[in-house]
Amino acid sequence: MIGKCLFPVAGYGTRFLPATKSMPKEMLPIVNKPLVQYGVEEAIEAGMTNCAFVTGRGKRAIADHFDTSYELEHQIAGSTKEQHLEGIREVMERGVFTTVRQRSMRGLGHAILTGKPLIGSEPFGVVLSDDLCLNSEGAGVLSQMTSLYEEFRCSIVAIQKVSPAEISHYGAVAGPTERDGLIRVSQMVEKPTPEQAPSNFAVIGRYILTPDIFDILRDMPPDDRGEIQLTDALKVQASEGRVLAYEFEGIRFDCGQVPGFVEATQYVFEHHYGQN
Ligand code: G1P
Repeated sequence: MIGKCLFPVAGYGTRFLPATKSMPKEMLPIVNKPLVQYGVEEAIEAGMTNCAFVTGRGKRAIADHFDTSYELEHQIAGSTKEQHLEGIREVMERGVFTTVRQRSMRGLGHAILTGKPLIGSEPFGVVLSDDLCLNSEGAGVLSQMTSLYEEFRCSIVAIQKVSPAEISHYGAVAGPTERDGLIRVSQMVEKPTPEQAPSNFAVIGRYILTPDIFDILRDMPPDDRGEIQLTDALKVQASEGRVLAYEFEGIRFDCGQVPGFVEATQYVFEHHYGQN
């Protein structure tokens, strides 16, 4: 049903300098696989085989990662080393990868609007690959969300409870309970202080958006920092009861920060390394 997924990947990754000085942060490996590949695998598992990257300067390695590396493949053809390429080869066979360049960084909403030519006028997924989501018990987070989309046909954001001290890093949401683990969003505040936060439910980097979001974003004025916020556009949809917040099954690591990145590395090494 939902065939496309947008990956905003133009950010600088300043928290990981100097590692990210000449290399995209999305290419940092969690054990032996780049962060962005985890997100792409999750999207493909959910049926979103059309992966659209909103890239920027210095991000060519991402597009190259999902393309054939002719010399490397030629060199190791027929050797046991080829097995290490099996996972990425499968991703490349199943997916179609497109890119558009974001020339200036003006917020997540602006990045999503920049991706419109690659999405068109259909509902689509969004993955912020800094958030690594894993569910060893069953379907991935985007798959869980596509099932919900089929039932409710509106925008859906993934949420997770965080501590009051952490809520200021995220969009916070609140609203009436639709059913267990599902909220019909009526309030949304981007990066609130603990006092301003309507709840401790933080928006995590997985979204399903209906395509009218593009028109809303186009008309959205920038905030005080000159950024166009996705949260502001979602608030417009939420005012019409068209946004659900879903407390997903699985675990999530904030790999946009060094401690979360290290935790994810330890977890993947202990639970998944050698399986793919
Ligand atoms: C963005 C969104 C925020 C959301 C977060 C999830 O913030 O604006 O609402 O909670 O992603 O990772 P950013 O991390 O780009 O500052």
